[in-house]
Amino acid sequence: MSGARDVPTQLVSLGRSVSGVTLRQLFSQDPHRVTAFSQLVSLGDTELLVDYSKQQITADVLKALVEFAGSCRLVEQRDAMVAGGVVNATEGRAATHIATRAASDATATATLRAESQANDHKLADVVAAVPSSITHVVNIGIGGSDLGPALVCDALAAMRPMQREVRFASNIDPLDLDRALTGLHGKHTLFVVCSKSFGTSETLSNARRATEWLTAQGVRKVADHFIVVTAQPERVAATGITAGWVLTMPESVGGRYSVSSSVAVAVALVFGLDALHEVRDGMRLIDEHFVQAPLDANLPVVHGLIGWWNATVLGYASAAVIPYSRALHVLPAYLQQLMMESNGKSVDVNGAAVVRTSPVVWGGVGTNAQHAFFQLLHQGTQVVPCDFIGCSAALGSSQADHDVLVANMLAQSQALAFGVARDEVDGPATLQAHRATPGNRPSTTLLFSRLTPRAVGALIAFYEHVTFVQGVLWAVNSFDQWGVELGKQLATQLEQDMKGTPTKAHDASTAALLARHRQWRITR
Ligand code: F6P
Repeated sequence: MSGARDVPTQLVSLGRSVSGVTLRQLFSQDPHRVTAFSQLVSLGDTELLVDYSKQQITADVLKALVEFAGSCRLVEQRDAMVAGGVVNATEGRAATHIATRAASDATATATLRAESQANDHKLADVVAAVPSSITHVVNIGIGGSDLGPALVCDALAAMRPMQREVRFASNIDPLDLDRALTGLHGKHTLFVVCSKSFGTSETLSNARRATEWLTAQGVRKVADHFIVVTAQPERVAATGITAGWVLTMPESVGGRYSVSSSVAVAVALVFGLDALHEVRDGMRLIDEHFVQAPLDANLPVVHGLIGWWNATVLGYASAAVIPYSRALHVLPAYLQQLMMESNGKSVDVNGAAVVRTSPVVWGGVGTNAQHAFFQLLHQGTQVVPCDFIGCSAALGSSQADHDVLVANMLAQSQALAFGVARDEVDGPATLQAHRATPGNRPSTTLLFSRLTPRAVGALIAFYEHVTFVQGVLWAVNSFDQWGVELGKQLATQLEQDMKGTPTKAHDASTAALLARHRQWRITR
């Protein structure tokens, strides 16, 4: 394990020199900049152009970043992950998500592939066994057991016919399941209860309420309306949840990396197995690129390095993801979990303090985001590097309107990079200061020719590997999430204290809020 490391002095001084030059200057100095800092890859039914020329980098910066990746033993750590080595040291686990879609030795060992294939055969059998009388699927799960299938289902709804309707219930907020069940009939509804641990209180509570709902709807064989997906099948019986089908996933697949595992059963139930396979094909293409391409032409590596450079050397504390497609509406939330739960750490793999790790990842769908928070991106005092994601072929019914959407995406990255100086502003002199935009704000654009299921898979695998790369550079364990545990424990204690006399002395603020809640809650 390589621990916390200082930023190499060469990168610190390159950071200073890059800060003294503008993107306008970089573009005017080098007519070949776009060619040098962009890459086109074929994904079979679609192509992807990744343009990082609007990032604050130079050839020297990229070279030094790639050397830094070498000194962090990125290749060795990537290969260890693919080989099934214990890369998650605090939990003593491998990280085998790539194996869930691997087809050759290139991206997983034969043993790992055999395990994935066995899980896949079971998934296919279950999908075939679900009767056609089931017209609605409700996925119950939270975090990675919700966001992955939610992202893929929402995206594929714009691309493939739906064989069934799908809804998602994740939150313990009773409104979530209430809304998911609105208008549904028990005999036509199937619940997919996804929980890797089968110990997540939100999911188990919602699954129990779903059982009660089915009974109240007059369904006699409730188990026939449940599929469970878990890495802990032996825990299911003790929860009182009965399921006609239990699908498993390996313990070594982290929740936020689980979208290509059995967790995606809702995708297959709604769009068919072929659609799920297309998503996995896209993931596999990026996996193979990640393990085979040289570091300086390796898309997730380069993107990961630039993200690390922005956060660690240039000091940008947040990063935004802006998909210009309604089909990718869930992507910012998905990436928040993937990137911040993975790399939101303040100790390295050896437990030593690290100064800077994951930026705050946030975002929203364009063009809505333009009318919400883009003011800050263009003229605020903080620089927020952006990822713009779009596609050229319209998914909706109007290519003309889609062209306007893409024009808006290109306009934002252009305005962010090049801005408008005071003396270039049209209009009255009194408004020059207000209307000038500073520019020099970095972004990368990922433009697909078409947004297909493969493209969606490729995008997910791309960000999985970006997250891994950045974890290696920050020397953190990207596969644990101990910070989430304290909040869960305290919630369990407070839940008990809400019902009876509080057994624990809480801090004054929490005690007062708890007392007020006990007074106001509905008791009848
Ligand atoms: O929020 C913590 C977390 O453990 C995530 O990592 C995970 O995706 C989510 O809870 C749900 O966990 P499970 O799938 O075990 O119910």
